[in-house]
Amino acid sequence: MPPIDPSAHTVPAALELEGLTKVFSVGRSGRSVTAVHGLTLSLGHGEILGLVGESGSGKSTVARLIAHLHEPTHGTLRLGGDTVPRPLRGRGLKRLRKRVQMIFQDPFASLNPLHTIGYILARPLKIHGLARGRDVNTQVNALLDRVGLSPGASYAAKKPHELSGGQRQRVVIARALAAHPELILADEPTSALDVSIRLDIMNLLLDLRDREGLSMLFITHDLAGARYMSDRVAVLYAGHLVEIGPADAVIGDPQMPYTQLLKSAAPNPDGYFAQAGLEVRGEIPDLQNLPPGCPFEPRCPHARPVCREGLPRLYDVGPGHQARCILHDPLLAAQPPLVPAAGAPAPP
Ligand SMILES: Nc1ncnc2c1ncn2[C@@H]1O[C@H](COP(=O)(O)OP(=O)(O)OP(=O)(O)O)[C@@H](O)[C@H]1O
Ligand SMILES: [Mg+2]
Repeated sequence: MPPIDPSAHTVPAALELEGLTKVFSVGRSGRSVTAVHGLTLSLGHGEILGLVGESGSGKSTVARLIAHLHEPTHGTLRLGGDTVPRPLRGRGLKRLRKRVQMIFQDPFASLNPLHTIGYILARPLKIHGLARGRDVNTQVNALLDRVGLSPGASYAAKKPHELSGGQRQRVVIARALAAHPELILADEPTSALDVSIRLDIMNLLLDLRDREGLSMLFITHDLAGARYMSDRVAVLYAGHLVEIGPADAVIGDPQMPYTQLLKSAAPNPDGYFAQAGLEVRGEIPDLQNLPPGCPFEPRCPHARPVCREGLPRLYDVGPGHQARCILHDPLLAAQPPLVPAAGAPAPP
């Protein structure tokens, strides 16, 4: 499916974030960390946007802000063109929770072991007033069928421990679908599963998007998985959006040194990824001590003096493809690098 350009939509995008920011206070020290900095992006109807980045880059925080499990510190969130009011409480919050559903990493932890699958799936149907009486069972069975657990009735009587990890994640997906959401936030939905069943779950999510037009934010550490699943991919570094564009462009030909580094560090068992020629240097950044300019500057082999002065803007680097790197500004890129490139002659 070709990448969807949300700007081409005449109907409002499924999701729009504008300057979304989350500052957490840390302990009683009065210190704070900004986990998400001014994130602006949109997601078209029926689009899958992959969200990738190292551990601590802010991926889950973005999902939790959208689901309103955290209140944003600044910024605007729009769902289908409706601005989500702040503070959001009571009926407004219940309405948002119906429209946006999360799928978490660990299906073992997500399902109450004391209840049957039928009970677990009936709850959202009742809470959101979507079924009553006998219709509840019919809808539960239909949900199980939709996620490939057929015949539904034979699974509804089971408890979570009677199912495999992959089957449990299918139940979690069915529970998310029960509320008829417009947007699914899938936070590493396959990383707790055996490699052999990851593809099954990814194919189920793709199939649901194709059949039911769901919009989805797909969070993952795995670049190959992001490319397989997503129309577009957004890359986060220390809470900043550093690259976004069509999945094949961002992962096949990354234009931000950080994405190149991620790609070069990705497992490459079958030659799927070419090596990007970057050395992995440095550690995941400490959000309490970020440099004043580009957050990636201390690890970047291409850094120029200007990278220490301020956060670079996003540059257009291809159709629908943007990267936050001054290498795309010919004047700034002409500055001598702070660190000589590998193989360059040593300074006298
Ligand atoms: N409730 C919280 N209070 C304080 N800091 C938090 C809170 N939640 C997240 N953070 C911090 O925000 C940053 C981003 O965390 P987040 O969980 O969003 O990262 P992530 O990209 O999902 O990482 P991972 O790949 O490990 O899941 C981290 O530094 C984390 O410690
Ligand atoms: Mg996370």
